[in-house]
Amino acid sequence: MPAATAAVATEAAVATERWDGLLLGATLATLDAETGYGLVEDGALGWRDGMLAYVGPRDGLPGEIDALADEVIEADGLVTPGLVDCHTHAVFAGDRAAEFELRLQGASYEQIARAGGGILSTVGAVRAASEAELLRQSEPRVLALLRDGVTTLEIKSGYGLDFDNERKMLRVARALGERYRIDVRTTYLAAHALPPEYKDDADGYIDAAIGWLPQLQAEGLVDAVDAFCEGIGFSPAQTRRMFEAARALGLPVKLHADQLSDLGGAALAAHFDGLSADHIEYTSDAGVRAMAEHGTVAVLLPGAFHVLRETRLPPIERLRAQRVPMAVATDCNPGTAPLLSLRQAMQLACTHFRLTPEEALRGATQHAAKALGLADRGVLRTGMRADFVHWRIRHPAELCYWLGGDLAHGSFAGGRRLT
Ligand code: NIG
Ligand code: FE
Repeated sequence: MPAATAAVATEAAVATERWDGLLLGATLATLDAETGYGLVEDGALGWRDGMLAYVGPRDGLPGEIDALADEVIEADGLVTPGLVDCHTHAVFAGDRAAEFELRLQGASYEQIARAGGGILSTVGAVRAASEAELLRQSEPRVLALLRDGVTTLEIKSGYGLDFDNERKMLRVARALGERYRIDVRTTYLAAHALPPEYKDDADGYIDAAIGWLPQLQAEGLVDAVDAFCEGIGFSPAQTRRMFEAARALGLPVKLHADQLSDLGGAALAAHFDGLSADHIEYTSDAGVRAMAEHGTVAVLLPGAFHVLRETRLPPIERLRAQRVPMAVATDCNPGTAPLLSLRQAMQLACTHFRLTPEEALRGATQHAAKALGLADRGVLRTGMRADFVHWRIRHPAELCYWLGGDLAHGSFAGGRRLT
């Protein structure tokens, strides 16, 4: 809905109820159109009960400013929808800086994984940490993401690899959401790596991981199910079994697909009406077509691409041609993407994958929300959640232009000040 229509639609309600807040004067990048930033100069943003009540030009406001809202914020700069980081492993313990050094000396990610390092070394650290310690170590990462504009965050399990430790990770993810009063969407990724106690019995491990899922779901800890479908992860057949279990429980799926080789992962995720297929450097034409048919979002993870010094690009042109929505996420994890800024991931998506800054912004907002199955955020429009970021810049392309820096003036999630 164009901003002008949205303003008219809310006028009746405005007459009777004051808004909780009104931000005036900034340029709005609403993204509320098929293409373009949806820029509104000298904009106004009003919200009430956590939802946007007005999005449009200041001179279209339906009344006197003081009568409209309890709190009025005069602003300049830019306002965008709150950023949505739709793929992270931000809950973990320890770090893998030593592996970074090994890779710089020539060892590959796969070699390190096959030698028992990689994901399994983080599994050791997570198992050794108490729930409180895991929370303590994970919180600064979440805070860093929030400070650079994130207002909704996905966090995966996958470094516990047994019932108690997967549960511990998911509980920490939920606790972080409660602490900051933001939506943390949790994804069950027990099928991330084979734990030592199931060595040579990947099928047995998948059976066990399928068995833990109903209890974790019953505890309200699981919003979606993911797997690592790869030579050093799980086979398409094992992934399929995990997805069937998810489907039987009514849980949506997403997949680490075709990152290091083409195992047909993106198509597999699409055939389960997956929310997203993520990484997808090696995804074939058929995979892209399947994603287009099933509305599966392509989640691009340029941080992992960058850190692993990959050269194989995701099929960006084919995704565009097939109109597959592209999201961008940090993949924040201790191995392939120790990346603490979604804006930095947007920058990498532009430089490495040649996304336009507009695609990158849409990818970190509207399309990222879709990758989490969330239809109530990602654009600035009346009736959507009041999740937005106030930036100290003039134009949205600057979000991808600056490397690092402190650009976010502040953010609101559900109409409450977040940072
Ligand atoms: O998305 N590919 C598998 N999972 C993560 C890496 C996890 C790790 O290395 O700890 C990823 O890149
Ligand atoms: Fe990942």
